[in-house]
Amino acid sequence: MTRTATEDMHNLLTDNPELYEARFPDADRLAGRWTEDCLQRYGSGSRVLDMGCGTGRDAAHLHGSGRTVTGADLSEAMLTHARAHHPGPAYVRADLHGFDLGHNTFDAVVCLDSSLLYCHTNAQLDGFLASCRRALTPGGLLVAEMRNGAYFLGRTDLLDTPTLHEFAWHGTAYRSTTTLTVDRTVQLLRRTRVWTADDGSPPVEQRSAWRLLFPLELRRLLAAHGFEVLDLHDGPGPRTEPPWREGMAPGEATDADRLHVVARLIEPAP
Ligand SMILES: C[S@@+](CC[C@H](N)C(=O)[O-])C[C@H]1O[C@@H](n2cnc3c(N)ncnc32)[C@H](O)[C@@H]1O
Repeated sequence: MTRTATEDMHNLLTDNPELYEARFPDADRLAGRWTEDCLQRYGSGSRVLDMGCGTGRDAAHLHGSGRTVTGADLSEAMLTHARAHHPGPAYVRADLHGFDLGHNTFDAVVCLDSSLLYCHTNAQLDGFLASCRRALTPGGLLVAEMRNGAYFLGRTDLLDTPTLHEFAWHGTAYRSTTTLTVDRTVQLLRRTRVWTADDGSPPVEQRSAWRLLFPLELRRLLAAHGFEVLDLHDGPGPRTEPPWREGMAPGEATDADRLHVVARLIEPAP
C-alpha cells in the first residue's frame, strides 16, 4: 500500500536532510560560489540571511567566504542537520511567508533552489518581500534562484512523462517517480513523487507545489516592495545546463527553465 504524505506535513527529503544531500549533491558548492559571485559583483556587505537554507550547505559556504551568515528554514530537521554538519552560520526557524529577524539587520537575503516559490499566494509573496525589505539595510541585495514559470508557456516537455530517478544511499536503493502538472487557476506547478526503497518499506507518495512566477510579474512585485532589479535572467546559473562557472556574466533572456534575480533595495521600509 502506498502511504500518502500530505503537502506541508512530511517531505521525505526535507525530513531526511542527509538523503536530500545524497539526492541533490553539490560537491563543488556551485550554488554557494554563484551566490558569492553575485554578492561580490554588486559590492554587498558581509551580513547575509539565507532564507529556506535547507541543509545549510550554501550558508556554510558563504560563511567560509568570510560572511556573517544566518540560515533560516521552517524545517526543524533541516536546521538540526545544518547545525551539526554545516557549522559556522547561526541557524534559526523562520517562515518565508513572513519573518521578523530584525530591522536593517542584513546586507543581503539569498533564497536558493526555488525556496521562494514556496510562497504560493500573492499574499505570501508580499509577506516575503515585505519581510526582506524590513530585514535589509538600505541598498541591500536580494539574490534568488528558482524555476522559471515562463518556461511552461507553450512547452510541455516536463509535464508529458513521469521522470524516474534512482540512487543508492547507505546501502539502500531508492527510486522516485515524479509527475508534474500545472494548476492554472492558482498558478502552481504541482509535483507528485512516489518513492520506493529496496529495504522493504512501503512506497511513499508526496505532494508538493511551487508558484509559477513569471519574470515580469517578479519585476512588478519587486518594484512594489522598493527593489530595483539589477539582473534577471535564465542563466548561466548553478542549476542550468551548461552550469555557471567563475568569470561568466549574467545573461539577459528569461526563456529557459531557471530564473535568477539580483535586486537592490532602493526604497527602504517606511
Ligand atoms: C528545495 S529546498 C532548498 C534548500 C536550499 N536553499 C538549497 O538550495 O539547497 C527548499 C527549502 O525550503 C524550506 N521551506 C519550505 N517552505 C518554507 C517556508 N514557508 N519557510 C521557510 N522555509 C521553507 C524547506 O524546508 C527546504 O529546506
